[in-house]
Amino acid sequence: MRIHFTLNEVRTEIEVSPDATLLSVLRDQLGLYGVKHGCETGECGVCTVLLDGVPVNTCVMLAPQVDGREVTTIEALREHPDLGWRPSAGLDPIQPAFVETGAIQCGYCTPAMILVARALLAREPNPSEEQVQEAFSGVLCRCTGYLKPVQAVLRAAGVLRGEVVEPIEGPIPAPSGLFPARGDEPRGEDVMPGGSEVLTRTSVMPRIIIASQAKPRRVVGRPEVKVDALKLAQGKPAFTADIEMRGMLVAKVLHSPLAHACIKSIDCSKARVLPGVAAVLTWEDILRVVYSTAGQSDPIPGPLDSFSLDKKVRFVGDRVAFVAAETESIAEQALGLIEVEYEPLPTVLDLEGAMAEGAPQIHDEPEYVDFAESDPKRNLAAQIRIDIGDVEVGFAEADVIIEGTYQVSKVQQAHIEPHVVVTYWDEDDRLVIRTSTQVPFHVRRQLVSVLGLALKRIRVIKPRIGGGFGGKQEVLIEDVAAHLTIATGRPVRFEYSRAEEFFAARSRHPMHIRIKTGVKRDGTITANEMYALSDTGAYGCHALTVTGNTGHKAMALYVGDGPYREAPNIRFYADVVYTNTPPCGAYRGYGVPQGFWAVERHMEVIARQLGLDPLAFRLQNALRVGEIHPFSAAWSEGREPRPETINTCGLEDCVRQGAAAIGWADKYGDPEWHQVPGMPHLRRGIGVAMVMQGTAIAYLDMGSASIEINDDGSFNLLVGATDLGTGSDTVLAQQAAEVLGVPLDDIVIYSSDTDFTPFDKGAYASSTTYISGAAVFQAAKQVAERIRIRASRMLSEEGIEPIDSEDIQLADRCAWAPNGRSVTLAEVALNALHHEDQEQIMATASYMSPVAPPPFAAQFAEVTVDVETGQVRVQKLVMAVDSGVIVNPLTASGQIEGGMTQALGYAVCEEMGYDDAGRTREVGFRDYHIFAAQEMPELQTIFIETFEPSHPFGVKAVAEIPMDGVAPAVGNAVMDACGGNVVEAPVALERVWRVLKDGRDQV
Ligand code: FES
Ligand code: FES
Repeated sequence: MRIHFTLNEVRTEIEVSPDATLLSVLRDQLGLYGVKHGCETGECGVCTVLLDGVPVNTCVMLAPQVDGREVTTIEALREHPDLGWRPSAGLDPIQPAFVETGAIQCGYCTPAMILVARALLAREPNPSEEQVQEAFSGVLCRCTGYLKPVQAVLRAAGVLRGEVVEPIEGPIPAPSGLFPARGDEPRGEDVMPGGSEVLTRTSVMPRIIIASQAKPRRVVGRPEVKVDALKLAQGKPAFTADIEMRGMLVAKVLHSPLAHACIKSIDCSKARVLPGVAAVLTWEDILRVVYSTAGQSDPIPGPLDSFSLDKKVRFVGDRVAFVAAETESIAEQALGLIEVEYEPLPTVLDLEGAMAEGAPQIHDEPEYVDFAESDPKRNLAAQIRIDIGDVEVGFAEADVIIEGTYQVSKVQQAHIEPHVVVTYWDEDDRLVIRTSTQVPFHVRRQLVSVLGLALKRIRVIKPRIGGGFGGKQEVLIEDVAAHLTIATGRPVRFEYSRAEEFFAARSRHPMHIRIKTGVKRDGTITANEMYALSDTGAYGCHALTVTGNTGHKAMALYVGDGPYREAPNIRFYADVVYTNTPPCGAYRGYGVPQGFWAVERHMEVIARQLGLDPLAFRLQNALRVGEIHPFSAAWSEGREPRPETINTCGLEDCVRQGAAAIGWADKYGDPEWHQVPGMPHLRRGIGVAMVMQGTAIAYLDMGSASIEINDDGSFNLLVGATDLGTGSDTVLAQQAAEVLGVPLDDIVIYSSDTDFTPFDKGAYASSTTYISGAAVFQAAKQVAERIRIRASRMLSEEGIEPIDSEDIQLADRCAWAPNGRSVTLAEVALNALHHEDQEQIMATASYMSPVAPPPFAAQFAEVTVDVETGQVRVQKLVMAVDSGVIVNPLTASGQIEGGMTQALGYAVCEEMGYDDAGRTREVGFRDYHIFAAQEMPELQTIFIETFEPSHPFGVKAVAEIPMDGVAPAVGNAVMDACGGNVVEAPVALERVWRVLKDGRDQV
């Protein structure tokens, strides 16, 4: 049918199918890629457009419904102010406000947020913070924690009202008294107070205590705006699915309805003859190659137990067949025509029963390749046995032994952009894989055997990514589209639905954990033992390494005191079992949030039972500077362990500053504060958790960078590192700009394409700023050296005595001699490229670290508990973090805010479950609740800088540590409020209510 409507102020008439959604028409027919797909059920809001000025979700609206009406997409907003000779009106004020405040991380939700803000400001020019949060309630963001987007709208509102808004220039220094700086000078200006003419104030900056060893820098340490923020604010087609290709097919997967079964037969004949179907593939049609889907370095530290398609299915949602068709609806129809005869097998859904005698064996395929004592006969994907010192001796020397059992649930990464891939043959018959991945180089390597193609015939392109959080550290769907492109010769697009994200993607390992701790009466820990039973689901991707981290990071924090500090007694044993449930994998934090849920809940129990101060008890036993990371000498994911000394640890200051910020001294232990006046059913509580993470994997993770100068003195920086919305491109470019003496704007960064960018292991293990950053530093240093040599010659040629290149300084786009004379970098570039001894000034460098310096943090939480219903309301989260020197306070604080928000879901509401048949209980955002803007507690981030000597700029990791402490801090705060010890995360209403009602586990 034909419809007429006004689209972005232009009269539009098009033919649409009566059942086409407005989303599919806008994207697929009209190429308006600023409208995003995040679900199919109207729950995430990223498909928002304005219909007659009102935000609507286009995924649940039929295209014919807009007939005669006015539709506005992000593409209607104004343009980049600098488009060459053509005059432009510039951007809508909401767009730069999002860019400047750091409100954009992956940017996948940004067009929707900006449109929603536009509708709000059109009806309410002076909105309150609550009104903005309310307006955002229909758009889910998994990255930001909403703090900066809300501030962006308040800032834009000020601009639109004609007010002066203050530039966002630097982090907020710690005010005297509240956050005493211990001799460290705060840097930057406080943007909060403002001058008298400033009416709009923003509070997007974190508080910061600068490391005394950090030199003042021009670019590093500044709140530079993200290099990709502008295009994301404009809704430019930057993501994997935002391309058009002639003849592109749509792929779909037939998923298993059974949790465990053999496929006796598959009849695809009806599906194959359906008009519009280009290919149907089953296990009989493709190579049978066993592999691991975990996106990790070679050799994969885990069992090889997966096939692209197999004759056996191992969970509800496992793959049975692939279809490629002209349209999505034909592909769906074809799935319904495939006839499969299954032979059901007994299932094991419960991790406790997986290793029981007589349990059904999930992996009985002869191709199975063992790693690290996996034993498929016992459904054991991995086992870990680490002994440091002798815990039995430590227990014997303890005054008290305290044991506890804790559980963590399975949770989903829930990146708003689903997994999506486009594959095609290029003109050289090479297979191009354009994919939303965190690990493009691993994808290329791992698909070689799976596809039967030489590596040199595969090219992987990683465009912008709409969030990953570990979920895309997996070779999850690339093979589906690739097999179908190989079968048909045509481009293929494959994108998961939101339901598939829940039942056929990866998630965080649920675990049952036991801890036993020996303590002396004075609070000295003498021995600490943990056993973790971890559920990897149907496949063992990341089984060993995730669960290894549970002990490696969480159990490493508390070594004990006195002689135990010198020789700690720690045991970490774990079994990782297969069950007939969707596989688990990497999720930001990578096993550490599970470990700290148990460790930090347990430390609280010990402190309360022994009457110890929870802060002092923890600090008494915590790892310190100069000590050996206890696990570094004992275990290294199946490789040779090498002892590593802790060079920087700001934990004590984190505790001091965080405690001051949340008012610990006035609240903890004060019965009056715990009461809510006039509301006897409510109790207040305050809790803490101390945490550590890692920064990359020592002796394994490698990143590289290539830099070349352009004719105008700008630089192209190519990195294989993968910015998945974190801002890593920005902080890498900042490090290059710092060395080369140019503003950030002069660095054109590109990531990543396996044909053009040098190798990088990818975005995981909190490694990019540190590992890839060091590679960028090395490459930039080499380029700077070439510039200095040429500049010294150019400056010396003018009749002045020779200048030593070592004495040349690069700054302000110039090379400066000690006598104050200078040449611009553009002059140096022209000289090098065109005039004299011509050369391309360029360099490539790579970096692998012998150490993995841990960041440390103190996480505080304040809650209110309804003791009648069990409802928990988190009022405030404060995180004080030692992540080394902060390269960009805007992006780094965005990481902490977003991470705390994800962790808050882990703490109180996120949880995946299965019915008796193994079917996933939560298949959308209606069932699986992630925090929305209007539900957010107050968030506060404080950076306590230390200068990590193993990195040229002193940095450590920031991305994963905010995932670790929120859940235990909230659990401890709930216990502080009402005495109930909820040992299973999340601390959901029913669990609190039951603990209060039954009086079990009360401390
Ligand atoms: S609400 Fe439409 S894509 Fe999610
Ligand atoms: S920035 Fe909102 S989903 Fe990533």
